[in-house]
Amino acid sequence: MRRLFIAGNWKMNLKLDSAIALAKGLKEAAADVSEVDIAVCPPSLYVQPVGTVLAGSNIGLGAQNGYFEKAGAFTGELEMAMLTDVGCKYVILGHSERRHILGESSEDVNLKVHAALQAGLIPIVCVGEKLNERDNGVTNLVNQRQFDGSFSAVSAEDMKKCVIAYEPVWAIGTGKVATPEQAEEVHAFLRDLVAKRYGQDVADVVRIQYGGSVKADNAKELLSKPDIDGALVGGASLKVDAFMGIINAVR
Ligand code: 13P
Repeated sequence: MRRLFIAGNWKMNLKLDSAIALAKGLKEAAADVSEVDIAVCPPSLYVQPVGTVLAGSNIGLGAQNGYFEKAGAFTGELEMAMLTDVGCKYVILGHSERRHILGESSEDVNLKVHAALQAGLIPIVCVGEKLNERDNGVTNLVNQRQFDGSFSAVSAEDMKKCVIAYEPVWAIGTGKVATPEQAEEVHAFLRDLVAKRYGQDVADVVRIQYGGSVKADNAKELLSKPDIDGALVGGASLKVDAFMGIINAVR
């Protein structure tokens, strides 16, 4: 059985005070949640103070990105081992905003996936098609390319540790959520890709989150689908009530 995994991607939001307040509020509100895994991914600068607040809680800490090189002359970047050093368990990699706004390729994502695994982090690897790609009937092709590129040369043992997040770009921050059927279709396709490459035993344990306008009122229906194992939440992860509403809806 795959445990549901709800992660909040705070993106480039909040300030130190509001990040700390949100972490404190979540720590308290989620204290009795044992049925699902929870994580928050603050902006890098706030990872450590938020981690200090969350210490000893059931909420895991994640970063939104990391670099693939080991320590050295890489101005502005963060080594994966620096993320574990300040308590991160997870790192989001290949988010569509990094792919499409910052020009990250699946080859870049792949280097980061390997670096993250080597540092002992659990990568949450995002894939997803844009609206015009869905309209042109290439949804599966796009997701397969991103999957193949991002997980190139990842071993079966390492694949088991990875989380995939299917985030259709057209559903991110738009309020336009994929229907549970649309999402399930891609999740099942992705799980099948894992099965073809690694075998069913690996496919059975890899968790695939859905992301894109997840809210308390649509989470339950989405996560009731057999291949949807959690959610990667943007906007609704920025308020205690909204994020807890999702968690409580699926427990
Ligand atoms: P929203 O929940 O704001 O649509 O963002 C989804 C997302 O991009 C999470 O990584």
